[in-house]
Amino acid sequence: MKTIFSGIQPSGTLTIGNYLGAIQQFVKLQEEEDCYFCIVDEHAITVPQDRLKLRQNIRSLAALYLASGIDPQKSTLFVQSEVPSHTQLGWMLQSISYMGELERMTQFKDKSEGKEAVSSALFTYPSLMAADILLYNTDLVPVGEDQKQHLELTRDLAQRFNNRFNDIFKIPEVSIPKVGARIMSLQEPTKKMSKSDENEKGFISMLDTPKKIEKKIKSAVTDSEGIVKYDKENKPGVSNLLNIYASCTGESIEVIEEKYAGKGYGEFKQGVADAVISVLKPIQDRYDELIDSEQLDDILDQGAEKASFTANKTISKAKKAMGLGRVK
Ligand code: TYM
Repeated sequence: MKTIFSGIQPSGTLTIGNYLGAIQQFVKLQEEEDCYFCIVDEHAITVPQDRLKLRQNIRSLAALYLASGIDPQKSTLFVQSEVPSHTQLGWMLQSISYMGELERMTQFKDKSEGKEAVSSALFTYPSLMAADILLYNTDLVPVGEDQKQHLELTRDLAQRFNNRFNDIFKIPEVSIPKVGARIMSLQEPTKKMSKSDENEKGFISMLDTPKKIEKKIKSAVTDSEGIVKYDKENKPGVSNLLNIYASCTGESIEVIEEKYAGKGYGEFKQGVADAVISVLKPIQDRYDELIDSEQLDDILDQGAEKASFTANKTISKAKKAMGLGRVK
């Protein structure tokens, strides 16, 4: 049995990109593997957050994980800040991270570009992400395409620590889905769909009403050719919609192209909207039942306890390897 770890930031309501790129994989993996899924609130505070909104987003993300099919009997679901070893190991890994390698991270470049005040935590974010993963002796990290570079750094840091101190960290592999790894904005299909996009029409939130989903997909940017065909370079809008359709239904791109051969974008977009709604509607119904339930708190309490047990063991070993604290 492999150990799986992944995390999502509670920085706004999740998009269909988060679902198709990440959560959908998580739900499958928990059937066979030992899974840890984390609400990474300490990552979210690397950019300014409203206190009450953050609390709400943490709870909402927990409910969305569960509503999407994460089963607490099979997976450990927890909040990062409730397991203190994350920041502890994060700090230790910062001490072996180089400025140069952190400067090369494209997520940092994107998030800091044009900003007047950039927190130092945004810069050292990847060291904390490495800590998240390495604490659990993780074999595999399922993520969307945009996290690949962070995973490479995690592997480098683990190897560096092992070589310099003691061989305690497992070197994790990354798992990126074949379709759905990079869902693009509906308005600017050359840009990643993001929950922090200022233009609400660019993303589909997992909690958007069916009507809103339909409206957003109908106004998605395409082209004037009128042919439903996958061509990422020349038809990024249509290709993105094809990707969304395929990831929601499990049908191949070729089958969908055939289905819409000779038909216009209007009909195709309706098909995409129907596919998205049929995935999201049952999730939204379960979400409504969970969001204010006590059950949600019990699951997160148990998750934090279970995660702490494993994380504490690793942190003791890491401290010993680095010479921190006293011999006991
Ligand atoms: P975050 O919160 O931005 O996104 C959560 C997951 O969703 C994937 N994703 C996408 N997939 C496809 N298309 C998109 N448009 C799209 N947008 C987001 C992301 O790749 C990710 O898998 N740094 C991470 C959180 C994190 C983490 C970790 C992940 C912290 N510690 C340890 C794995 C392991 C992040 O910001 O994800």
